[in-house]
Amino acid sequence: MSESTPAPSPAFVQQLNFHARDASNEAAALQAAVSLGLFEHLPEAGTAEPASLAALVKQVGGASRGVRAVVEPLVALGFIHLEDGRGYVLPPATAAFLRDAAFVAGLREARRWWHVLALLPQAVRGGAPVTWDGVEWDLLGAYRALFLAPPPSFPNAEARDFHDRFARNPARTLALVASAELGVLARLVQGASPLDVLAREVDAVPEALAVLLGTLAAMGIAQEREGGWGLTEAAGRALDAQSLPYFQRALPATLAYWEALGHLDEAVREQRFRLDLREPETARRIYQENASRISSIFASHLRLSRQAAALVRKMRPLAEARVLDVGTGSGVWGAAFGLADPSSHVTYLDSPHVLDAVRPHLAKLKLEARSRLWAGDCLSVDYGESCFDVILLPQIIPALPPAELPGFFARLARALKPGGLLLISGYLLTDRRDGPLDALYFSLRRYVTNEGDVLSLPEFRALLAPVGLTEARGFDMPIQQVVIAHRGDVAWADAASSG
Ligand SMILES: C[S@@+](CC[C@H](N)C(=O)[O-])C[C@H]1O[C@@H](n2cnc3c(N)ncnc32)[C@H](O)[C@@H]1O
Repeated sequence: MSESTPAPSPAFVQQLNFHARDASNEAAALQAAVSLGLFEHLPEAGTAEPASLAALVKQVGGASRGVRAVVEPLVALGFIHLEDGRGYVLPPATAAFLRDAAFVAGLREARRWWHVLALLPQAVRGGAPVTWDGVEWDLLGAYRALFLAPPPSFPNAEARDFHDRFARNPARTLALVASAELGVLARLVQGASPLDVLAREVDAVPEALAVLLGTLAAMGIAQEREGGWGLTEAAGRALDAQSLPYFQRALPATLAYWEALGHLDEAVREQRFRLDLREPETARRIYQENASRISSIFASHLRLSRQAAALVRKMRPLAEARVLDVGTGSGVWGAAFGLADPSSHVTYLDSPHVLDAVRPHLAKLKLEARSRLWAGDCLSVDYGESCFDVILLPQIIPALPPAELPGFFARLARALKPGGLLLISGYLLTDRRDGPLDALYFSLRRYVTNEGDVLSLPEFRALLAPVGLTEARGFDMPIQQVVIAHRGDVAWADAASSG
């Protein structure tokens, strides 16, 4: 960003990132709730006893974890209420719009378009209806109705919000995906041009491209001026040639989850996962892509992990410390502990193809001599007894099957020396599991890929205490949270903990 360019608006950037990523998780939860008939089993507040999770699971006919993955974001959004210790109810505003048959029919119609939306690049290139599931769909017509026509009327303000998140957000996400894929955003960042010039450059039919640009205009990203189509002032401040590749990086990942998110209802009912990370080949592909993406933000993550290493050093010295980094990815957490003391030694554990991404970082940081790369499955390797002073679990718990966690923590606790610390980093849910929203969306993605769960501090304590790690506290860090646990034989640092 040049010095003369005003700073981007945080709210605009946040909105842009939301549409690139989490809007799809949120819409998938809303759509699955409707197609599973979940709302039909929830009483309006004050009219009957709240429905317990167990009762909902029985009525929906699915897996408990799946029903929870759908319900929890809806509680965080306020469309469902959780009455402490009793269960779930519909607030009056939700109950009111769900009683409106025309509104519900509109939702069901919007739901039919989920998979078709992914064909938007094809529609913009060809300017014709697209074929999906043997049927022709006027996808550009659907975009016109959603973004270029006057809005329909809604039963109440909450209904308008629900519909926006349910039907328009997925279409906004795919508008961004298509704009990135066709090179429209890259072209707009360079400056304004007339529609026909732009259409020629991105190889699209002008009338179809006009629909995409109109959608971007409705999103506050593009606008038509005298010189043709360009970025709005707000978008121009948020996106330039440097920041655009970072922004666009989230989009292929969103698309990779699209089919699985569209089948969330099926995953809940049948435990069938369209993107199953327990299948070795799928895991290999996704984790390898993930490692290279994480590598690209190594420097900013290293600032975070070094902050956590500094917190640990306040609690115990790291001289001669043996550190184990489980599920190391790019190695960014282990490296922070390697850098924290010149005599520490770090073991980096991950699958062999991921460890390839670690080597260049260790070389650059001159940590190779004090490092060991350990290729293995963290659920089956032998950690030994009293071998490590610090064990790191950075963003790995949500990748592991919940049923494996008690045995996993028991083996790790056995491997910790006296005075040892276990450090878990990543998202931490509130004690009620009703937020933060981005953690619940992250958890939903783990569910649709048949991975693990995101936990709250009480849930971690319930797993750690039985294996002797009786003391556990949460600490707020930038971007992620950290849980530190020990046997009660280490004094806590003064740093403010979050619980
Ligand atoms: C979300 S990444 C986190 C990477 C890194 N710790 C960080 O915080 O940036 C999860 C990592 O756990 C690894 N992983 C997942 N399951 C594993 C298993 N069973 N054994 C070893 N590593 C595993 C993946 O290969 C991936 O690199």
